[in-house]
Amino acid sequence: MNLKRLSASLFAISIAILLNAQNITIIPQPKKVIFNKGNFALSGKTVISYNDPQLKFLADYTSTTIKSLNKLKLIVKNQNGTQPKIQSINLILDVKANRAKEGYLLNVTSSVISIKGATSQGIFYGVQSLLQLIPVNGDSKIQAVEIQDEPRFAWRGLLLDVSRHFFTIDEVKRLIDEMVVYKFNLLHLHLTDDQGWRIEIKKLPELTKVGAWRVPRTGLWWDREPPQNGEAATYGGFYTQEQIKDLVKYATQRHVDILPEIEAPGHSLAAIASYSYLSSSKTGYKVNPGSKFYTIDDNSLCAGKESTFEFLDIVLTEIAELFPFEYIHIGGDECYKGFWKKCEDCQKRMKDNGLKDENELQSYFIKRLEKILQQKGKKLMGWDEILEGGLAPNATVMSWRGMDGGIAAAKANHHVVMSPNTYAYLDLYQGDPAIEPPTYSMLRLNTVYNFEPAPPGIDSSFILGGQGNLWSESVPTFRHAEYMFWPRSFALAEVLWTPKSGKNWNDFIRRTECHLSRLDNSDINYARSFYDAILTPLKDEKGILTIKLNTEIEGLLCYYTFDNTNPDHHSHLYKKGEVLTIPKDADTFRVITYRNGKPVGRIMTVPLVELAKRVN
Ligand code: ACM
Repeated sequence: MNLKRLSASLFAISIAILLNAQNITIIPQPKKVIFNKGNFALSGKTVISYNDPQLKFLADYTSTTIKSLNKLKLIVKNQNGTQPKIQSINLILDVKANRAKEGYLLNVTSSVISIKGATSQGIFYGVQSLLQLIPVNGDSKIQAVEIQDEPRFAWRGLLLDVSRHFFTIDEVKRLIDEMVVYKFNLLHLHLTDDQGWRIEIKKLPELTKVGAWRVPRTGLWWDREPPQNGEAATYGGFYTQEQIKDLVKYATQRHVDILPEIEAPGHSLAAIASYSYLSSSKTGYKVNPGSKFYTIDDNSLCAGKESTFEFLDIVLTEIAELFPFEYIHIGGDECYKGFWKKCEDCQKRMKDNGLKDENELQSYFIKRLEKILQQKGKKLMGWDEILEGGLAPNATVMSWRGMDGGIAAAKANHHVVMSPNTYAYLDLYQGDPAIEPPTYSMLRLNTVYNFEPAPPGIDSSFILGGQGNLWSESVPTFRHAEYMFWPRSFALAEVLWTPKSGKNWNDFIRRTECHLSRLDNSDINYARSFYDAILTPLKDEKGILTIKLNTEIEGLLCYYTFDNTNPDHHSHLYKKGEVLTIPKDADTFRVITYRNGKPVGRIMTVPLVELAKRVN
């Protein structure tokens, strides 16, 4: 080959690689991708076929989803052992294939697409990858590619808190539809808390007559007016058992397990408002609408009276029958024990059982719940406070106060799900508080991407996986829930599925940007906060406020003003690392980000007095 031809073919190869690199946009990044030449042209003649009746639902699901993506209505056929025909998408269950339970092999050639797996779940994930390869711009060409894939962790969860705000069954189904695209397989429903009991318990009707409803309030959570005398409790709702059965079926068809959480002994004001015998103090408590109430209202179930355990036995019996998943989550977090200290029954329980303090009383409580669950063939999971006072013998710990609880539990040979508030709390800010709806502390997209669920120094086989939690104190609508889930749950999906070595922040952002248009197409809400500037207020040696700027992603320019005008590309351009000093008498800082000459972030407007408060 002469030099000219060699350089021409090198050029062609590098263009091909470049095109391929731009074409593949799967989230989470698969384990192994081999690019091939050509592409498969999806058309109205393409047939979806399957080789096992187990795959009928999935074949129909594939057809329906392709129709919603690009309007093509593909026919579904049972292949009955015949060879794949050209222009077909073949779903192939191959139980003998030596593949991980959720693994799959996706092969796209210019004539045939095949997705093989040892389980229908594996093939389901192969279908999700295929669907992501279909362009959303109306083009129907699918890049020829071979993908071998399987997840890093078995537990890939999202939590939706349906107590603090109520979400309808249709909204929960919509979340399932959205999460499976990114290969999540577990939905944790936080069904009970101080602000609402959300599931019908046939033998305890007051839980949904009373406990599911609270007085209507909007505005800042914790600043809301407490219930007034005679005021009607009109905000709320609950799921009937029929609705739950339907939801479980819907989730199961999409390979999602539902983990029900029934909070005990703390976070139980809605139950106590329904049945006052559950309290270890007075009666007459109301479901909380988002007002301050800790130490004022008693939200911990009495640990002294047997009637509490009889109540929980009834609840957990019905829950165990409704949810086929092997685990039930019993909460266990943030139990205020002040009322137990003053309760004769609780103190007697401690004396009778030789328990030295209220932490040991909580541990006694959780161990009794574990026994109840074992009788029903279920495993107990609880938040990491269940370590305090001694862990129940077979408990699985969900670590939320950072990773330490999970690490301690794994060292004690207990299974763990990591959902630390430091990396996986999706209720936290994802951008500057000046332009985000009010909530607690900060969790940016890149922090989520840096989550490592299996830290060094422990036996990683105890780490089942991880989970992102959306607490809904400040999430009054499903639209806002979506805003909080996406795109941070893209990052979580990649943390939980992709091999550690396959992660790459810049490439993740490239793929994320492609997926935002997919979300637009499906009218799913999401945050663009990662395009905004990051402000770091500092104080110089004289204690005078200065400002540094940064961006979460590469390639953005920040333009700023101090003169009360809106910044654009004619304003001051921030130079990397620069420390901005505040001009005399300036009162407000404004900044916007640009890329390739176009604004991409939002204008952020921050009074300098507010900025000064952020520096301690
Ligand atoms: C929790 O966030 N209290 C589990």
